[in-house]
Amino acid sequence: MTQQTRKTATQDWDKAGWRAYPRVQMPDYTDPAALAGVESQLRRYPPLVFAGEARRLRAQLADAAAGRAFLLQGGDCAESFSEFSADNLRDTFKVLLQMAVVLTWGAQMPVIKVGRMAGQFAKPRSAPTEVMDGVELPSYRGDIINGFDFTPEARIPDPTRMLAAYTQAAASLNLLRAFSTGGFADMHRVQSWIADFVGGPEAARYRDIAGRIGDAMAFMQAAGVNSDTAHQLSKVDFYTSHEALLLEYEEALARIDSTTGLPVAGSGHMIWIGDRTRQPDGAHVEFCRGVQNPIGLKCGPTTTADDLKVLMAKLNPANEAGRLTLIARFGAGKVGDHLPRLIRAVQDEGANVVWSCDPMHGNVIKSSTGYKTRAFDSILREVREFFGVHKAEGTIPGGVHFEMTGKDVTECTGGVRAVTDEDLSDRYHTACDPRLNASQSLELAFLVAEELRARREDAAPVRTAAAI
Ligand code: PEP
Ligand code: CO
Repeated sequence: MTQQTRKTATQDWDKAGWRAYPRVQMPDYTDPAALAGVESQLRRYPPLVFAGEARRLRAQLADAAAGRAFLLQGGDCAESFSEFSADNLRDTFKVLLQMAVVLTWGAQMPVIKVGRMAGQFAKPRSAPTEVMDGVELPSYRGDIINGFDFTPEARIPDPTRMLAAYTQAAASLNLLRAFSTGGFADMHRVQSWIADFVGGPEAARYRDIAGRIGDAMAFMQAAGVNSDTAHQLSKVDFYTSHEALLLEYEEALARIDSTTGLPVAGSGHMIWIGDRTRQPDGAHVEFCRGVQNPIGLKCGPTTTADDLKVLMAKLNPANEAGRLTLIARFGAGKVGDHLPRLIRAVQDEGANVVWSCDPMHGNVIKSSTGYKTRAFDSILREVREFFGVHKAEGTIPGGVHFEMTGKDVTECTGGVRAVTDEDLSDRYHTACDPRLNASQSLELAFLVAEELRARREDAAPVRTAAAI
């Protein structure tokens, strides 16, 4: 891909161009002067990420598209102002690192770590209003837009929330960068956290895998490969991502990359388009097509093959590897109905994509106790179906996408430390969808690792035969 072709793809694009397209799921701000003031302030602020980092992530995702790396994307459904703390960031980061090590063992390849963090504030909603005790108010749309409290004042979209979100994202990224390179992410520490988890009686079935990871580390140590001699063991590449929903915010943080002269979203390394905002002629697709960051595209049961073809052509006209990640979110029991037809659409176009599995958004149910929840078993089942379809089609399952937290919340049911419907009220803290807690997240990583390992073992004889 030359710079010249990329220029051609975006020469008809402007960062404000989306304003001429139909928009959905975005707030109607009532005070245009206040909005304009916030936008001009954000335009003067530094971008949160450097374009070179987004390019590096794209290069790594190109490896995932080719089956040489695996993507782990995870974090909150909605980050909130009230849950913002160093401890929360540290705990989520810590679980993501553990999951990444376990998946690295399973996939036997590098795991690309991308947080739904430092910018994941704006939420699409299934209904514009909410009714509680006979009172109807506008829906909560994420802390960057309005307030969670069920009062008329809190629900008015307030543009100054964008400044608070920017500040929180900047502080989060600062800490995440420090954690990534300052010694916290040292592989030996991560391995000892994993050992602690499997030390508990419930997680005994994962002890074998943890033991094998420990053996590999011990072998490297004995061979003189340690954090002092191999810096890769003491630090990690960690990237941020969020849904690019609030386009006033995205536009104000878009910048020209001085190295390539091309536009880049400065709000996070990777941005994605949600299942409700992926209209091929809509504002969100128009904005995202012009920035050079890796783009995610949620694909749900209503995604048609024709729409997907148009979207791939718009979002990745030069068919660059690593540019586009298709995030499948169909629901357990439905992957077989939809994924094969979309895989075929990708193949018809010869499109270069990463296929990732979001087993969260198609599996929301209401618990018997009235909570919005997800069952661990449905989440696992969707992941297994995703792997099964890719195996049958001969295509590459390139990653997974979870809503999770490092805290011991009770929002999803199941797992080895079984959360029941009755437990949900104990620690149900999410501002939006239910998240896997620390133990459920790590357990899922072990189970996905087993799938990946089995896949490699299946594939091995074929590769040997081909090599001969
Ligand atoms: C999300 O990722 O939080 C989300 C709303 O997903 P989707 O667009 O797939 O429903
Ligand atoms: Co969600």
